[in-house]
Amino acid sequence: MITVTAAIIEKDGLILAARRRPGSHLAGYWEFPGGKLEAGETEKECLARELREEFDIHCRVGDFLAESIYDDGLKVIRLLGYRVRHLGGSFHCRDHDRIVWLPVDRLRTLTWAPADIVLVEAIQAENQIEATLTYYRDNAETYIRETIDLAGHQPMRRRFLELLAPDSLLLDLGCGSGRDSRYFLDHGHRVTAVDAVAAIAECAATCLGQPVRVQKAEDLDETAIYDGVWACAGLLHIPRSRIEATFARIIRALRPRGIWYMSFKKGESAGQDAKGRYFNNYTIPMMQQLLGHFPQLHILEISESSAPLRGEKQQWLNILVVKKEE
Ligand SMILES: C[S@@+](CC[C@H](N)C(=O)[O-])C[C@H]1O[C@@H](n2cnc3c(N)ncnc32)[C@H](O)[C@@H]1O
Repeated sequence: MITVTAAIIEKDGLILAARRRPGSHLAGYWEFPGGKLEAGETEKECLARELREEFDIHCRVGDFLAESIYDDGLKVIRLLGYRVRHLGGSFHCRDHDRIVWLPVDRLRTLTWAPADIVLVEAIQAENQIEATLTYYRDNAETYIRETIDLAGHQPMRRRFLELLAPDSLLLDLGCGSGRDSRYFLDHGHRVTAVDAVAAIAECAATCLGQPVRVQKAEDLDETAIYDGVWACAGLLHIPRSRIEATFARIIRALRPRGIWYMSFKKGESAGQDAKGRYFNNYTIPMMQQLLGHFPQLHILEISESSAPLRGEKQQWLNILVVKKEE
């Protein structure tokens, strides 16, 4: 396996892409610049060196973004993408015949070297997550006021509780107002409420009289502790490229025979709405296919429902699964 580093250089909201010059391997394909790790250097040192050699620029290599493993039939490439800040020097192309700066939503208009596609997806996913969380941050109080008394999910909430033993430990993932955590506490369960947005978590903590953890569902890192996971519209903002990894974390956090409820908007599409929030929608067959990747789960129910929100009727997908015994 060959380890290669790649630079995601961002300036004024635009990302740099470089085209491989004629005569080189993968000529004409676009990539994030970088190169092969040499003996004795760290990944960050490698990237800074490559950028000096390829463009004559000085950079600070920042956070790791994502890894892409690609088998081109002859060799396996492990491509490591890092966020990079351009500190100085104008770009002189040596290994490329063109560079462009593009907004994230236009990156897909280029023909990328196959190994770089995963990095493009990771950049897009981060942008979608950030735009969504910004919406909730900026509209926390209004959002909570609009949703604290919603009732469309109540039949599923009753069904979820029927499947749980008394005094269960529940995880409310993407808890929003804390409306459902409150209900579970009032019914004698213990609840860990989690939301990715601090402003939302603060409001929910007031409603619950207990702390609410600020964490993204994608970062959940617990093993076999919850008797139930409640994710009412709590996972629908997670980008498609990250949903399987997030499901795996939730399954790990559940105890054997643990119950997991989640709901998504019904639909085939994924993308941002007029308010900038990203939604990942599913139909029943799409959800069945996704859950099929997790043999540890047994599907109890996938059903559709409709519920009003802000005067509009919305179609929902409700999913109840149980984690099998080991
Ligand atoms: C559509 S609301 C649902 C809130 C609540 N469960 C309800 O039913 O009213 C989604 C909630 O998830 C939070 N959220 C968004 N992205 C998240 C993520 N990646 N991980 C955890 N929470 C997230 C938002 O801040 C928001 O409170």
